[in-house]
Amino acid sequence: MTDQDQAALWSDSGYVTEIPYMRDYMRYQAPISMAFAAAANGFDAPDYRQPFRYCDLGCGEAVTTLTLAAAYPYGTFVGVDLNPTHIENAEKLAKAAGLTNVSFLVADFQDPGVMEQGPYDFVAAHGVYSWIAPEIQNQFHDLVGKIVGEGGLLYFCHYVRPGSGKIEVMFHLIQSLMKDKTGPLLDRVRAALAEAKVMCKDGAPIFSYHSSLAGYLEELENRDPRYLVHEFCNHFFYPRYFPQVADDLAAAGLHHVGSTRPDRYGLETLFEDEVPDALKGLDHATAEGRASLLIVDQFRWDVFRKQDSAGASQISIQNRLGDFILDSAIFPYGYPKSVTLWEKEVIFDPAAFAAISALANPGQLTIGQILADPTLAAIPVDKAVSTILQMVGSRFFHPILHPAGRPLARGQNKLNLSMPFHAELGARDLRVEGYLSLPSPIIGGVVSLTGFEGLATLAHDGRNRAEAKKELRRQVKKLKKPERKRLKRHRYKKRPDFEASWSRFERRTLPLLLKYGVLRPE
Ligand SMILES: C[S@@+](CC[C@H](N)C(=O)[O-])C[C@H]1O[C@@H](n2cnc3c(N)ncnc32)[C@H](O)[C@@H]1O
Repeated sequence: MTDQDQAALWSDSGYVTEIPYMRDYMRYQAPISMAFAAAANGFDAPDYRQPFRYCDLGCGEAVTTLTLAAAYPYGTFVGVDLNPTHIENAEKLAKAAGLTNVSFLVADFQDPGVMEQGPYDFVAAHGVYSWIAPEIQNQFHDLVGKIVGEGGLLYFCHYVRPGSGKIEVMFHLIQSLMKDKTGPLLDRVRAALAEAKVMCKDGAPIFSYHSSLAGYLEELENRDPRYLVHEFCNHFFYPRYFPQVADDLAAAGLHHVGSTRPDRYGLETLFEDEVPDALKGLDHATAEGRASLLIVDQFRWDVFRKQDSAGASQISIQNRLGDFILDSAIFPYGYPKSVTLWEKEVIFDPAAFAAISALANPGQLTIGQILADPTLAAIPVDKAVSTILQMVGSRFFHPILHPAGRPLARGQNKLNLSMPFHAELGARDLRVEGYLSLPSPIIGGVVSLTGFEGLATLAHDGRNRAEAKKELRRQVKKLKKPERKRLKRHRYKKRPDFEASWSRFERRTLPLLLKYGVLRPE
């Protein structure tokens, strides 16, 4: 391969540039999720309800950055990526969405331009850290140490040892099988996967040594081709042990404060029976590091805070959580009695759950107000707080930015999409991805809609109920075959199903869209 071929496929640092990455919204990097993760462990966070600065490192085509810019119009967002095609597409999307609080930089982690735009209150890097060389990981530590402002938060997700072994073996197997192949990376990685499958069938010892490898190979067959290329075709895949990562970041002034996976809010959820003695009485970061090894951690969604010394600002969790408004994401008749948090089955305390869910359901009260409510008087505060964390971990409840609106009775009012992230962009997402994520200024994130729900939502923009139904019928009729296929994947079967799907949308989805301010009466 000539140097020119090499340059068309990878950046100087060995990261794939031939094919753009997928366009997905990553809920874990929302400012409210990062702030809640810190608060759930007793740490302070920047105020996500006031103007703030946010940087998305390795933003790809920036669907997440743009969605967040729409959901937090008072925030200032900067997306950074070394791939000029990614940034070009991101800029086009920003323009189409009419977003003026977001800008982009074609830059890598040592580009002084990134530093010049800091410091930031929130910095995120989703899906980047494990796929870059050790020296680039060091550039990353250095950069985030400088651009996260005092008291600011850093979120990034990464594979970690010892659990990443299976993925590392697959990476090196695929890389080895790709070596004698030429042509586009996508063809090469597919051919390598097919060869690996034959090896697996023929009983190659690696598949018995790593017993979960065969299942993983099957899983990969159904993955988006862009995912396969960005997962296996970079020159590097370097998962590290979490304590090493935490030490490097501590040296840069960043200390671990939590996980944005709400089902992983504390050590209690990680161990089946109880937290081992070896983890008791330790400071937060040391306990987290040791736990990561004991549970054979594979992938992490970590939040770090810039502070003078670890733990300096840790105070009671109840005080930190007090200002978050708690909301229920589903209707009360669907509430579960127990939930699996990470690996552990947790049964809700019935009295605490009943009292808290009744107060949280309308999405009007802060956790502080809920804890002070007389209906919780007989419940110890610790029990109430841990039940709230379990409820958020279940994902049936979530913290929101502003009090939720009240669902309106269905009438003849015209409804409009409330965000500048407008219909045209949404329609493109539906066509390309088969689903739609619309920003909500109340959630501080998105409402995710499957195909039919997405189309129905867009059909409501600028129309009353009867007009929207007519428009939706017209749109469903004119769908092309592949688009129809995508809709089928998302529960909408065929035309006679229209009425049932419409009424499900009206009963379940429309009230949520109104509650979360995605659609507003004219
Ligand atoms: C797997 S994609 C993730 C994109 C996006 N964050 C998401 O989650 O959808 C990783 C991104 O990091 C970018 N990247 C990799 N190394 C980088 C570096 N050294 N500097 C800036 N961006 C980098 C790549 O171009 C790519 O867009």
